[in-house]
Amino acid sequence: MIDTEVKIDIQLTENYRLSEIEINNVPFGRVFSDHMFIAEYDSNGWGNAKIIPHQRLLVNPASHGLNYGQSLFEGMKAYKGQNGEPQLFRPLDNHKRLCKTAKRMCMPEIPEELFMSALNELVGLDRDWIPDQEGSALYLRPLYFADDDYIGVKASNKFKFIIITCPVGPYYAEPVNVLVSIKYIRACKGGMGQYKAAGNYAPTLLPAKEANEKGYHNMLWMNAENPKLLEEIGTMNVFVVIGDEVITPILNGNILEGITRNSILQLLKDRDYNVSERELSIDEVAEAYHNGNLKEAFGAGTAASITHIAKIGYNGKDIILPPIEDRPISNMLADVLCKIKTSREPDPHGWVYKIPL
Ligand SMILES: Cc1ncc(COP(=O)(O)O)c(C=O)c1O
Repeated sequence: MIDTEVKIDIQLTENYRLSEIEINNVPFGRVFSDHMFIAEYDSNGWGNAKIIPHQRLLVNPASHGLNYGQSLFEGMKAYKGQNGEPQLFRPLDNHKRLCKTAKRMCMPEIPEELFMSALNELVGLDRDWIPDQEGSALYLRPLYFADDDYIGVKASNKFKFIIITCPVGPYYAEPVNVLVSIKYIRACKGGMGQYKAAGNYAPTLLPAKEANEKGYHNMLWMNAENPKLLEEIGTMNVFVVIGDEVITPILNGNILEGITRNSILQLLKDRDYNVSERELSIDEVAEAYHNGNLKEAFGAGTAASITHIAKIGYNGKDIILPPIEDRPISNMLADVLCKIKTSREPDPHGWVYKIPL
């Protein structure tokens, strides 16, 4: 039972923009819906919760969020159910992960009621912004950062929690090429890899740019201590199918515990697939490729859904994956996940959350 009793002041926009937008054909992350949610934390706790027209913020340049990266976020999507009603996928898991990251970053937890009330009000209000084309959704970006008027490096006392939303299509327009390189690392033992800290992402931009220049969309990150072991892709968890075994790297503190990853593991177990969370070496992947046993590889995430991997660059050569139409497991998963999220398939695990209207 989700208790969502929080007082939110609502200031409606005077400039509704939906009619100007081709909702099923927008670039990812650039077009924002009419409203946003904002709440503030100070020595009195959480307050000043409101929905306002989407707008720029006034932020003190001393903000710890800006100066020291005391900032975190989540990524979620709203979908339309069978009667067009707005619904979310496993929002409480996003809340749990947000609180876990907040704790590590010395930020107060956001109460579940505040998080859920904000989503209910905002998504309910801007529900017409949810695209209905398959593969499209309303992307939700909860953002939480320190906003002290003090420049020393110490725990902050003031924070802002914001949710903005934008209609999106697929994050990757095509199957991706990923590059294995140990020139850079994303995470290491005792570090921040398992958290959704804003600071995890900027350091991946230069490696991704260098990978782009070589014809790859993104990096396939390897373990810092044992650089043969796969970890994840910058925006997705990774799965590889070798023979009949579906493998994803085990959560080791370096890898973000993806909600899509967890859902996929459950769907595969429900269907009696041979599924493993374990260490996976790039040499094992390369050997399977040479033996004809490498069947599928894909990334999994909220923004990216299921993204097929076309090739994996490793040691100056490419591991080429089979054609997309020959990948029954990832195609099945993409289909089932999409149908559960839009209530076109039963939801045996209670993952779908309907926004109360
Ligand atoms: C680094 C990283 N790994 C994995 C994921 C997938 O997580 P989820 O399925 O919860 O979206 C994301 C998605 O945001 C990510 O940024």
